[in-house]
Amino acid sequence: MEKYKDKSVGTDERAEDLLSRMTVEEKIGQMLQVSYNTLSEEDYERYQELGIGSFLHVLGSEADDIRAKAANTRLGIPPIFGIDAIHGHALLNGATVFPSQLAVSCSFNRELIREMGRCTAREVAADGLDWTFSPVLCIARDLRWGRVDETFGEDSYVVGELGGAIIDGYECDNYIIACAKHYIAYGEAAGGRDAYDSPVTERKIREVFLPPFKKAADIGCGSMMTAYGSIDTLPLTANRHILREILKEEIGFDGFIVTDWENVRSLVTNQHVAEDLTEASKKAVEAGNDMSMNTHEFYECMLRLVGDSKIDMDLIDDAVRRILKIKFRLGLFDEKIRPNRDVIGCRGHKNVNYELAKESIVLLKNDNVLPLKGDTKTIAVVGPNTDDIRAQYGDWTFFSHPTPKENVAPLSDFYTVLRGMREVFGGKNILYSKGCDIYGRENYISDAVKAAEKADAVVCVIGDCLAQNGEYRDRADLELSGHQLELVKRLVGTQKPVIAVLVNCKPLCISYLKESCAAVIESFNGGDLGGMAVAEMMAGKFNPSGKLSISFPRHSAQTPCYYNQYTGWHGGGYVDLPKGNVYDFGDGLSYSKFEYSDLKLSKAKAAAGEIINVTVNVKNNGDMDGKETVMMFVNDVVSSHLTPTKQLKGFEKVFIKAGDTKKVTLKLDTNDLALVTSDLKYVVENGDFEIMVGRNTKEYLTAILTIE
Ligand code: GLC
Repeated sequence: MEKYKDKSVGTDERAEDLLSRMTVEEKIGQMLQVSYNTLSEEDYERYQELGIGSFLHVLGSEADDIRAKAANTRLGIPPIFGIDAIHGHALLNGATVFPSQLAVSCSFNRELIREMGRCTAREVAADGLDWTFSPVLCIARDLRWGRVDETFGEDSYVVGELGGAIIDGYECDNYIIACAKHYIAYGEAAGGRDAYDSPVTERKIREVFLPPFKKAADIGCGSMMTAYGSIDTLPLTANRHILREILKEEIGFDGFIVTDWENVRSLVTNQHVAEDLTEASKKAVEAGNDMSMNTHEFYECMLRLVGDSKIDMDLIDDAVRRILKIKFRLGLFDEKIRPNRDVIGCRGHKNVNYELAKESIVLLKNDNVLPLKGDTKTIAVVGPNTDDIRAQYGDWTFFSHPTPKENVAPLSDFYTVLRGMREVFGGKNILYSKGCDIYGRENYISDAVKAAEKADAVVCVIGDCLAQNGEYRDRADLELSGHQLELVKRLVGTQKPVIAVLVNCKPLCISYLKESCAAVIESFNGGDLGGMAVAEMMAGKFNPSGKLSISFPRHSAQTPCYYNQYTGWHGGGYVDLPKGNVYDFGDGLSYSKFEYSDLKLSKAKAAAGEIINVTVNVKNNGDMDGKETVMMFVNDVVSSHLTPTKQLKGFEKVFIKAGDTKKVTLKLDTNDLALVTSDLKYVVENGDFEIMVGRNTKEYLTAILTIE
């Protein structure tokens, strides 16, 4: 008898048939995922012989060996291999390393981000793997948190739009599945503390944090990952209401849910809500987790629970059914077609990477110093991140994961800012000095100043480093660390124009740069080609179009500083700080000037559920063709609950030739004007809404829409 029903009967029937023939051991085996780096050699072998459901952190050829072992088990159920390919398949040295999620979110380019997903999927699949633990749909609203770089920024709508785009890219060729994570409100933990308790209400979850995950579920995302933390003291891993009732039953998510790393064990060891691993396993499965990431004892614990009739077999069947349906959907039971390995790091993917790197750069300040003038003969290129590919790559690459590696050279053809400057300004005299390190242990500021004194312009590349970001690495102090600020001040003191370039994982306090530098460029973690893109932008080879997806505070204590704040703060600021941020969500300059006019709504009055066409004319007043992201914000003028003074509800990135005017149309679904009431109802309330369309949160035209 064939082990599985033929493809022609469809995924559901194939999964049901296989499930009906599985033993309890085989079912529970499917609910376990293990990593080699948490098991003894013999345990790792044992789980391979058992044919468990999934492995993670395996790369390439190792997967083939494990797959072969699984084929020899009774039912030969293939494992699904997961990896953190979160800005390219970057845990594999030689794969395309895209800019970080935070960097690409500043491109506001859905299509390019979808392409990033599609390219990544091809490289993951070519490497023999099936599943990326991406995208991060967390919303970065407390900048102290160590994982801001992994997010698409501070706005729920942007996170949903770009998350949806990359999921579509990951899954469009059915090579792999995506994993929307970390469900839910992980970045909202008190104090920005990684994996700590998020003191949010269900109302806030539904209004701010749930929409991106709903969008992911609606477009068929294959999996979701349960966050480490807790919602108002109930760990997500044990939170039946949030996982099973809201995500699976109310929203109808039909993929499977995997816990984050050792979440089951954490219920015992970190969160102390379970006496032992058996109780923790029971809580996790009853809450709605379908697969345990590690905590390999989960296998025996579940067998014990079944043996003692202490867990409902229907829950196990539901979990295994979900996992099998995804495996059938991916073609793992059939002759899985995978791209050839030569797609890994290929030219086509590099081209997408190059376009994204360019569109992700944000020009924050330009005192008419960029593009650099033709008579610039000598350029000093100084600073700790000028030539540091680790800093430029950021987190979740082969440098840092699955295990940190000190002495490894990237196989990709990468461009730091220094290499980019040397190649783009080949005819100029480039003077390099590191100036200092990130921590303050190295000080070559005098050398850097000497280089600046000989130069016509100074490019100073500063920021942060991996040791200051990532899991377990929250920061209380967001100032430029070490001697970096002293370096910038000494360079400014030479009276030469200083162009500050930030290569960093997250927003930092850069008031001095804004006040004193001739130009400020934010590139975050720009990937393989970040340095080339920065240099080409400074040479005027393209017109910058990036805009911030996240705000920059004046002071570390000024967080949260996200733009979509409520009214009502007495004084509206701190007595010991100027009001407002250094830079806001939406800030970003072009070499062109874009002028907005003729804002029109297709209707001035509408009922909930109607779609309003919002049109505006945008003129490119510059002498360079360019791209502009048109942003649409709304404000519920009078509402039963506090609502933010501005909320982004639409954006479109358009190309406009120099001197041309383009009529841009955005669609406003009036259902998106809903707020969530204290009794958890989604309500579009009658009354006036300001519809604000423009460059950013400060430059816009306003029209009134009345809901009645
Ligand atoms: C990590 C992260 C998660 C990642 C997983 C597997 O601890 O929290 O984002 O996907 O473990 O590496």
